[in-house]
Amino acid sequence: MNINQTSPKRFILLGLSNVPYLQSIFFLVFFIMYIMTLSGNLLLITLVRINPKLQTPMYIFLCNLSTIDICFSSTVVPKILINTLIMDKSISVLECALQMYFHLALGSTECIIIAIMAYDRFAAICRPLHYNTIMNKKICVSLAVGTWSVCFINSAIHVALIFQLPNCNSYHVHHFLCELPPFLRTLCSETLVNEIAMYIGAGFIGMCSFFLILISYVHIIVTILKIRSSQGRHKAFSTCGSHLTVVVLYYGTILFVYLRPRSSITSETDKTFSILYTVVTPMLNPIIYGIKNKDVKDTIRR
Ligand SMILES: *[C@@H]1O[C@H](CO)[C@@H](O)[C@H](O)[C@H]1NC(C)=O
Repeated sequence: MNINQTSPKRFILLGLSNVPYLQSIFFLVFFIMYIMTLSGNLLLITLVRINPKLQTPMYIFLCNLSTIDICFSSTVVPKILINTLIMDKSISVLECALQMYFHLALGSTECIIIAIMAYDRFAAICRPLHYNTIMNKKICVSLAVGTWSVCFINSAIHVALIFQLPNCNSYHVHHFLCELPPFLRTLCSETLVNEIAMYIGAGFIGMCSFFLILISYVHIIVTILKIRSSQGRHKAFSTCGSHLTVVVLYYGTILFVYLRPRSSITSETDKTFSILYTVVTPMLNPIIYGIKNKDVKDTIRR
């Protein structure tokens, strides 16, 4: 956005509700979900830190996921809470840019970390004898550092490209956060370059992760089917059941918002899916991993 004298310095987030009696309900729901996200993920991180038995690549990457979840909802939910409380729907240009930057960077990091976790399950189930060499400490750290840097650089490029465009008429964002696809739709200038950049970025990160997950799970399923005893099968599957749930939840919603043509579906649908992956999924991750997992439960009990 060229911020000159004539352009306002704030955007209006139209996604937040106008209806007075809904305000307090929204506030309460978002507040409770935010508290649950923070406490659930912090608990999971603490459990992994204090239990030496949980110091495996799977749980360390799960800590990465929890860290991302905490930051991810913190870039969005506090702003919604404050705006709902003071009944003001505006957001400054800088806040909007920062929100878009962190939202995109953390979202794509999460995407890749989930894929790395699928690869980790593949290594554990299909190559158990070589697991310690495939997922050794050095490789894990390089994977994590590489993922975080690529995603934060990628996001910086998109946000820089977008905020250079002139915004001629509309300072109204039909959404409750500054997120790339709905934001592009509010601009009146030619956004083809940005859309192409978005499709290449999202396509590359999303598709690579998606295929890594797909290939890992094809191998995992083939291996599990070959196991004779049903007990062995169950054991092998139980370690990737939680992960598979997270994959479906997360990829289902995100691919839907990012990889479809401009304005093919109403912004209402956009908003619903964004609420799912910005507010609900981060809250569910620790629950999904905590409930079925014996090691996690044992640590809590102790
Ligand atoms: C993320 O994962 C890497 C590699 O396993 C690990 O070294 C790092 O401590 C983790 N970071 C967090 C915040 O959990």
